[in-house]
Amino acid sequence: MSTKSFSLLSLFIVFLVLDFHGVVANGDLITDVCKNASAIRSQISPIIKYDFCVASLKANPASKGADLLGLGKISMETCLTNATSIRSYIAQILKGKKEQPVKHALEDCLTMYSGALDNIHRAIASYEKKDYKKANIFITGTDSYSDICEAGFKGLTKQSGDFSQLIAISVAISGMV
Ligand SMILES: *[C@@H]1O[C@H](CO)[C@@H](O)[C@H](O)[C@H]1NC(C)=O
Ligand SMILES: *[C@@H]1O[C@H](CO)[C@@H](O)[C@H](O)[C@H]1NC(C)=O
Repeated sequence: MSTKSFSLLSLFIVFLVLDFHGVVANGDLITDVCKNASAIRSQISPIIKYDFCVASLKANPASKGADLLGLGKISMETCLTNATSIRSYIAQILKGKKEQPVKHALEDCLTMYSGALDNIHRAIASYEKKDYKKANIFITGTDSYSDICEAGFKGLTKQSGDFSQLIAISVAISGMV
């Protein structure tokens, strides 16, 4: 083997190792972040389920190469997507409802999830401006909206439980950056 092809080969191997290392390191980061997040005990956020945390971050393919800051952004975007679909779902079931107490409760839920969405948008905007503390405050405030909806309407337990987890993950990560 010539010296030239040998050095090309070693360069190739170095890149292979670096690339492999990058993937492993990121898998470790998600694991690490979710381990730490699930160890948090707070008065306002639910306890984060480790498996849910890992699955929710890995669900976005962009998490593969992401650093901690990137994971924070991804988790907030997941909250945004989730709140948007919950809101659409509420609007959809509201259409078929005529009975006043249920209708009223669902209208409140619609308002609450709109408020939650505003909050998440503000959190993401702050995060993009590198104001992580403000982002953390906005995202922390988001959970109370779904709680208020939940108090009035009992048909969204699964959705609001998942949503609370997603919010808690964002709160945790924006508190780590
Ligand atoms: C998770 O906690 C460990 C132990 O306290 C710490 O060394 C590590 O930096 C933390 N990871 C993140 C992503 O904050
Ligand atoms: C919200 O996120 C959870 C967890 O990723 C998922 O199971 C659920 O389907 C999502 N709900 C909506 C309405 O998008």
